[in-house]
Amino acid sequence: MNEPRAQTPPRPGGAGEDPSPHARRGKLLLVGFGPGAHDHLSFRARAAIAEAEVVIGYSTYIKLIADLLDGKEVHRKGMSEELDRVHLAYDLALEGRTVALISSGDICVYGMAGPALEVLAARGWRGLDDERVEVEVVPGISAVNAVASLVGAPLTHDYCTISLSDLLTPWPVIERRVIAATEGDFVIALYNPQSKRRTWQLPRTVELMLEHGRAPHTPVAIVKSAYRKRQNIVLTTLDDLCNHPIGMLTTVLIGNSHTRFTAGRMVTPRGYGNKYDVETGALREGQQRLRSLRLDADGRPIGAAPEGT
Ligand SMILES: C[S@@+](CC[C@H](N)C(=O)[O-])C[C@H]1O[C@@H](n2cnc3c(N)ncnc32)[C@H](O)[C@@H]1O
Repeated sequence: MNEPRAQTPPRPGGAGEDPSPHARRGKLLLVGFGPGAHDHLSFRARAAIAEAEVVIGYSTYIKLIADLLDGKEVHRKGMSEELDRVHLAYDLALEGRTVALISSGDICVYGMAGPALEVLAARGWRGLDDERVEVEVVPGISAVNAVASLVGAPLTHDYCTISLSDLLTPWPVIERRVIAATEGDFVIALYNPQSKRRTWQLPRTVELMLEHGRAPHTPVAIVKSAYRKRQNIVLTTLDDLCNHPIGMLTTVLIGNSHTRFTAGRMVTPRGYGNKYDVETGALREGQQRLRSLRLDADGRPIGAAPEGT
């Protein structure tokens, strides 16, 4: 890895934004590199990182892909320097360079793609037809998918993700979403559940869920550092969630009213049990293949097992 060059200061409308048609078109690659292990890095993400002359990212992320960065100009940034990362990336792309801005997981999921496109628009980038800088977003496996795969099949029905970080989102907005997701019986994935400074938000979230009808025995998975060296998995229940150490590298999955622990795996039924006898595969009486589920007068699937969704 080369030593980072001095940071180019943001120059909105300045010399770095020369729209001359003869200047080399720069490229900004917004790359999600997955949860951590290279086995879960996509082919396109690997190729995009290989293609980049410059790689910019949070220092922990740079460490995770350090072996892919030989010979590249690398800029490591701390937390809370997200906008600096974007301005620097755009400045370098405006110079005609190929720059990769990296995030763990998927770069669009609580990642850098949003702030990058906001900053670029504010600085006059004209979208896909912009003749100075081409932008490509490269998707990655998000923590929710990585974590789910390690504990079973908890996302086989409707789910949502909620970040408990109130650093950029007002807490009342987060509470409203927690309540709506609880009442909607979504499986809920909590990103950024807790940190050294943010300690009351997770217990408050659990309290809200219990108040709004999620059962205390609801299955919960707490996964730290999925597909990284210090991976740790705890399977527990909602009323026990806050008795476990939870930090910034953890994602929490909270089941819906049908989620179960089965053979040590967390499973949210897709609904087959409503229409078929799962053990034999036989169609339940009163149901038809490839037709909407038929319901009784109380809105329950006709002939369904009690656990169906
Ligand atoms: C700023 S968000 C970034 C999310 C990322 N863009 C993604 O798609 O996974 C950071 C949060 O993602 C979750 N996270 C990211 N990587 C993880 C991993 N390997 N294992 C468990 N949780 C992870 C944690 O909840 C962490 O607090």
